[in-house]
Amino acid sequence: MKYLPELFAANARWAEDVRAADPHFFAGLANLQSPAYLWIGCSDSRVPANQITGLKPGEVFVHRNVANVVVHTDLNCLSVMQYAIEVLKVQHIIVCGHYGCGGVRAALEGPSLGLIDNWLRHIQDARDRHLNFLTALPDNAARWRALCELNVIEQVRNVARTTLVGDAWQRGQPLTLHGWIYGLEDGRLQDLQTSLKEGAELDTVIAQAVTAARSRYMPH
Ligand code: CO
Repeated sequence: MKYLPELFAANARWAEDVRAADPHFFAGLANLQSPAYLWIGCSDSRVPANQITGLKPGEVFVHRNVANVVVHTDLNCLSVMQYAIEVLKVQHIIVCGHYGCGGVRAALEGPSLGLIDNWLRHIQDARDRHLNFLTALPDNAARWRALCELNVIEQVRNVARTTLVGDAWQRGQPLTLHGWIYGLEDGRLQDLQTSLKEGAELDTVIAQAVTAARSRYMPH
C-alpha cells in the first residue's frame, strides 16, 4: 500500500519541471550547498522560508521552531547555527517572525497547552521585558501584533549573544544579523531595523528597534 501518493506524484512533477528548466540543477546541488543565509523562523505552515523570499533549494539554510525562539541551551538550534556559521559560512542570519503567530498569542494569553508551555516561557520572558508597554496598549489585538515584533527583536538579541556569533565576529568573519516580520494577510516581509554587524552595536541597535516597534503601537 502506498501512503500519500498525491505528494509523491507532485514531487515527481516538480523534479521534472526543475530538471526541464535546468538539466544540471540537481547534479550541481548534490555536491555542494553554499547558502548565504541562515533563516530562523516559525514552524507555522503559512511561513515557508524559500517561497516567501523567492530562494531556490541550496540558497537558504533553515531552522524553524514554534515562534522562532533562540534559546542558549537549545542544542538543535545551536547546532544549526554552528554548522551554518563555521562550515557553510553564511553571511546573514535572519530571524523572521510573523503576525498572527499562535505561539506568541498563547504566550500572551497564557492558557495551558501542556508540554509546549515550557517552550512558550521564553516568549513570556520577552513579554515580561516589555510588560508595562504591552499592558498600556488598548486591546489584545494590538498586544499580539506588538509582541510578535518584540519577540523577533529579543530573539535577534539572543542570537547576537551566542558564543557562536561572538566568536565569528571576534575572528573577523563577515556576519550580519537581521530581524524581520512577515504578514500572513499580505505576504509581505518587513525589516524591523535590528541589523547588526558587530557586538559593539548590540545594545544601541536593539534599543532603537524596540523604540521604533513601540512607537508603531503608541496612540498618537
Ligand atoms: Co508562528
